[in-house]
Amino acid sequence: MNDLSSPQLIDRFGRKVDYLRISITDRCDFRCVYCMAEDMTFLPRAQILTLEEIYTLAEAFAQLGVKKIRITGGEPLVRHGVLDLLRDIGAISSLKELVLTTNGSKLTEMAAALKQAKVKRLNISLDTLDAVKFRAITRTGDLSQVLAGIDAAKEAGFERLKINAVILKNRNHHEVCELVQFAVDKEIDISFIEEMPLGVVSAHNRAEAYYPSHLIKADLAQRFALLSSISKTGGPSDYFNVIGTNTRVGFISPHSSNFCSSCNRVRLTVEGRLLLCLGNEHSVDLKQVIRANPGDMAYLKQVIVNAMQHKPEKHEFNLHEQPVILRYMNATGG
Ligand code: GTP
Ligand code: 5AD
Ligand code: SF4
Repeated sequence: MNDLSSPQLIDRFGRKVDYLRISITDRCDFRCVYCMAEDMTFLPRAQILTLEEIYTLAEAFAQLGVKKIRITGGEPLVRHGVLDLLRDIGAISSLKELVLTTNGSKLTEMAAALKQAKVKRLNISLDTLDAVKFRAITRTGDLSQVLAGIDAAKEAGFERLKINAVILKNRNHHEVCELVQFAVDKEIDISFIEEMPLGVVSAHNRAEAYYPSHLIKADLAQRFALLSSISKTGGPSDYFNVIGTNTRVGFISPHSSNFCSSCNRVRLTVEGRLLLCLGNEHSVDLKQVIRANPGDMAYLKQVIVNAMQHKPEKHEFNLHEQPVILRYMNATGG
């Protein structure tokens, strides 16, 4: 059972939650076709958590046994004050890892400062190495800027870098070997992600664009020798070593290989909603809790402990129906 004398978050299915993903903004300088509609309205300032509130929540989760915090967005590096927040969270002594997911557009300016703020690892989104396709998928992005950002991140010396590539049939599925070769050349990791139906998108039909992980593996087998690995990063990637290289290839397969039974994570949205599962709508309003009870850490922690009882067993995604989850990925942080 959960109680405050043993600082652990355990849900009804016996899963221990020690990984918190915090979305610090819903804004982004890109408009990726799988993530957002072209014309998005972003949240007004009064509705989003302040940096101080985010820090308080991070501290509460750390006191409850969370060991890994991943900062996400939208694009986290567009939020003013992000470096101060990272420095503060990075100084929480009980945390094992502060990590960040970014689209890479600001890394040339910020990589060194992120490293100094004690960010251990970066995951950088990159779906294609073709500049025209990159612009089409991100709608506003510039490939050369992201490639320069990846080099800046390498230069800064993070413990590990990983590319995240969402693979869509007939958009970028032909490129999986080139993307792995890129990762091998840079001596970094790469994860391929099956698209998830979050929010209504217009640029493609999600069922038609579905390209399952087993097809990617078959494509890669033509050029690379992959050996199943036991290594884990605490996220949903199932890893393979590319023999003869320093690169791991991960597969995040929410449709073809459900990983919910080993789920160890919850999410905090920038509106202060605690989402117990990416693929379900249920949430607990922590912004209301901290604004109504300022400074009451014990009460906040009790609410978080109680929330674990609402963590669903698994995500329910159906690519053939209109999305049940209306929030977009940028509001959730992936
Ligand atoms: P590592 O710490 O490197 O393992 O990173 P991660 O894979 O946990 O984080 P990242 O931000 O790179 O997420 C990669 C993808 O995995 C994103 O598209 C997420 O939406 C997806 N993902 C992460 N957690 C879950 C989850 O609990 N359920 C589902 N369905 N997808 C998830
Ligand atoms: N399905 C799967 N992955 C997505 N991402 C954004 N939207 C989706 C979606 N609908 C990915 C981004 C980023 C990660 C955090 O989530 O590419 O790498
Ligand atoms: Fe921005 Fe990431 Fe969404 Fe692309 S996937 S629009 S980079 S938040």
